[in-house]
Amino acid sequence: MATVLITGGHSGIGLAAVRVLAAENVDLVLAGRSPDRMRAVADELRAAHGVRVSTLALDTSSLTSVRTAAGQLGRMLADGEVASLDAIACNAGGRFDGPVTYSPEGYETTFATNCLGHFLLVELLLPHLSDDGRVVYTSSSTHDPDSMDGRMVGAVVEPDATTLATIGRDGAKALSAGKRYSTSKLCTVMYAYELDRRLRRAGSGISSIAFDPGSIPDTGFLRGMPKPVQWLSATSAMKWVTKRIGAITSTAEFSGASLAALAVSPEHAGGSGKYFQANAGTLAAVRSARLSYDEQRAGKLWDDSKRLVALTSAEEPALLR
Ligand SMILES: NC(=O)c1ccc[n+]([C@@H]2O[C@H](COP(=O)([O-])OP(=O)(O)OC[C@H]3O[C@@H](n4cnc5c(N)ncnc54)[C@H](OP(=O)(O)O)[C@@H]3O)[C@@H](O)[C@H]2O)c1
Repeated sequence: MATVLITGGHSGIGLAAVRVLAAENVDLVLAGRSPDRMRAVADELRAAHGVRVSTLALDTSSLTSVRTAAGQLGRMLADGEVASLDAIACNAGGRFDGPVTYSPEGYETTFATNCLGHFLLVELLLPHLSDDGRVVYTSSSTHDPDSMDGRMVGAVVEPDATTLATIGRDGAKALSAGKRYSTSKLCTVMYAYELDRRLRRAGSGISSIAFDPGSIPDTGFLRGMPKPVQWLSATSAMKWVTKRIGAITSTAEFSGASLAALAVSPEHAGGSGKYFQANAGTLAAVRSARLSYDEQRAGKLWDDSKRLVALTSAEEPALLR
């Protein structure tokens, strides 16, 4: 039986995904920062499907928390509480409206939460992943400045890790929450592609996949927005308008099932290095933004991220050196 570790699996798209996975007899590790909600979901899945569900305390915005969680997972694997690690779903994330805030290590919250935390988590967990395991990175169509979603939310800026980590610091230019979010999701696609290239070079059978779940206003995603905006976005009239103007739209159920399929389904065994999009009830591999294919920028993003998370040579998986 396979085991999937998912970040943010207790709500929204992640919750829909774990319900599908548990129904398919997949064991789970729910990693997140809301222990009571994770415990409630774990109880629900165990009772409904008899699968093994563990919970792991993880705040992706804190590098200390990521290191502690990775160590804890290693112990859970060693003592048999978790049988194996077959997929890592980097699903947690969000947009952070209001004034720019910073992570415990002093990095801008959007970039720390959506990018650096998952970057470090994957580096630390890769040695535990099965030989044919998968890493699925949840991105967003907002990462593409040529898409309607990218235009609506805010066009990306240069995916330079050092600049993004220090946005608004020491007189550096602040950036809108939408642009911070879109750019973090461009970096996410670039991590997925760069990891795929590095794994292929190492002759590994592990897959690295990028995923756009589509716009779903009724998850917790808009929680930082004013209440009237949240309410309006979730109305059927607004969903109709969003679809009509060419945005990528979905439901939590469809995108959760899509994420589950990308993590474990044999159908997607050849999905490494691709960008999958859930759009109006269809999951398909599509082209991502032009910039996301820039290998030189992706290599720099990777190396700068290593420096920002202070990855030691002992922590770096042999596969990726
Ligand atoms: N909904 C959309 O329209 C949409 C579109 C494109 C992409 N996405 C992406 O899809 C993913 C899931 O979002 P969703 O729509 O399902 O929204 P959601 O219901 O708000 O789920 C986000 C999850 O991320 C977790 N999270 C946020 N910050 C975290 C942190 N520092 N450490 C650990 N966990 C953290 C949240 O946990 P807490 O409950 O503890 O905060 C929550 O479980 C996100 O990456 C989002 O960017 C969403």
